[in-house]
Amino acid sequence: MTPVVEARGLSRTYRRGRLRVPAVSDVDLTVAAGTVVGVEGPSGSGKSTLLRLLMRLEAPDSGELLLDGHASRRTAPGWAMPVFQDARASLDARWPVWRTVAEPLLRTDRAARRAAALDWLSRVGLGHVDPDARPRELSGGQCQRVAVARALIARPRVVFADEPTASLDATTAAGITRLLRAAADEHGTALVVVSHDADRLAVLADRIVRMDAGRLTA
Ligand SMILES: Nc1ncnc2c1ncn2[C@@H]1O[C@H](COP(=O)(O)OP(=O)(O)OP(=O)(O)O)[C@@H](O)[C@H]1O
Ligand SMILES: [Mg+2]
Repeated sequence: MTPVVEARGLSRTYRRGRLRVPAVSDVDLTVAAGTVVGVEGPSGSGKSTLLRLLMRLEAPDSGELLLDGHASRRTAPGWAMPVFQDARASLDARWPVWRTVAEPLLRTDRAARRAAALDWLSRVGLGHVDPDARPRELSGGQCQRVAVARALIARPRVVFADEPTASLDATTAAGITRLLRAAADEHGTALVVVSHDADRLAVLADRIVRMDAGRLTA
C-alpha cells in the first residue's frame, strides 16, 4: 500500500546573514496509514521544522516529499491536520471554540456541526467549558485540547502533532494519548507526534525516531 507520508532526503537550512542553520538534514521518513510515528529529540534539533516540511507549510531546500504517493498535488482540505506547538496562537482568536473545532466538517449544516463540536469538546475533557468562549478565555492546556479536537473531528488521513500534551497534567495527557491512538486504530489515520515525554511516546507510538541536530538518528 502507498504510504501516507514518504519523505526522502528532506533538508532545510535557515540563513541569517552569514550564519547557516541546518535545521533538517537529509531526513528519510515513511508513515503508513494507521501508524503512529513518534519523534523525540532535544530542543532545537529540528522537530518542528520537520513537521512544517511534512505539512508543506514550508518547502525543503532539497529532497522529495510524497503525500499519498503524490509529489506536488495539493491535498484536499482536511486531508492533513496540524496540532501546533503553540496551540493558542494557532486558534482563531475571534472565533468561539466550538466553531474552530467544527471547521474541518465541510458540507454539514450548522446544527450538526455544533453538536459534533460539543461531542468532541467533551471527549477532550472540555465538556464544562463554554463552547462560545474565545481562545483567550481558555488556559494553554485547554487550547491544546481544542486543537486536538479540531484535528481529529473529521477523521483526517494524517495528523501532525507538535507536543500535543505538553501543557497537560498526566491524567488529561493520557486521555488525549488514547484519542490519538484511537484515530490510528479505528480510522486508519497516520500520525506523526513530536513529544519530549518518552514514556507517553512509548505508549502511543508504533515507532519512535530521534532527531539530533537536524538528522534522524533512529
Ligand atoms: N523561521 C526560522 N528562521 C531561522 N531559524 C529557524 C527558524 N525556525 C527554526 N529555526 C532554527 O532551526 C533549528 C530547529 O528549530 P525547531 O523549531 O525545528 O526545533 P525543535 O526541535 O522543534 O525544538 P523545540 O523542542 O524547542 O520545539 C533551531 O536552531 C532554530 O533556531
Ligand atoms: Mg518545536
